[in-house]
Amino acid sequence: MSQQTLNKTEPHKPIMVEEVLKAFQDVALRVFYEGTLGAGGHAAEILKAHPEIERYIACDRDPQALEIAEKRLFPWKRKIDFVHDNFLHLNEQLARRGIQKVDGFFLI
Ligand SMILES: C[S@@+](CC[C@H](N)C(=O)[O-])C[C@H]1O[C@@H](n2cnc3c(N)ncnc32)[C@H](O)[C@@H]1O
Repeated sequence: MSQQTLNKTEPHKPIMVEEVLKAFQDVALRVFYEGTLGAGGHAAEILKAHPEIERYIACDRDPQALEIAEKRLFPWKRKIDFVHDNFLHLNEQLARRGIQKVDGFFLI
């Protein structure tokens, strides 16, 4: 994520939030994987809409994005594993945590 999109005073607004929420409505999400956490905008909306989430694996390859997201997602910090990595390593990331399946995921 570029310096321009990561503004520390004005949180980045995620795109297609309604579409993302709609895709998961009526789905019980216990374990969720997001490969492009960015500033955590989608994560906040998904975690608000799905209080049943027990574990949210939040990956981003940009450490600055992770730092911003960690602040924004503080209310859910007990549920979230912040992962500094490329989502191409998704299988290894899940295996390391003993997770065999996720109930939902996205990469946008
Ligand atoms: C448009 S932002 C994501 C927006 C985010 N979902 C939100 O809710 O604000 C794109 C993010 O994806 C991350 N990213 C892009 N390709 C990646 C990859 N292969 N692995 C991990 N992170 C990646 C970038 O570092 C950037 O932070």
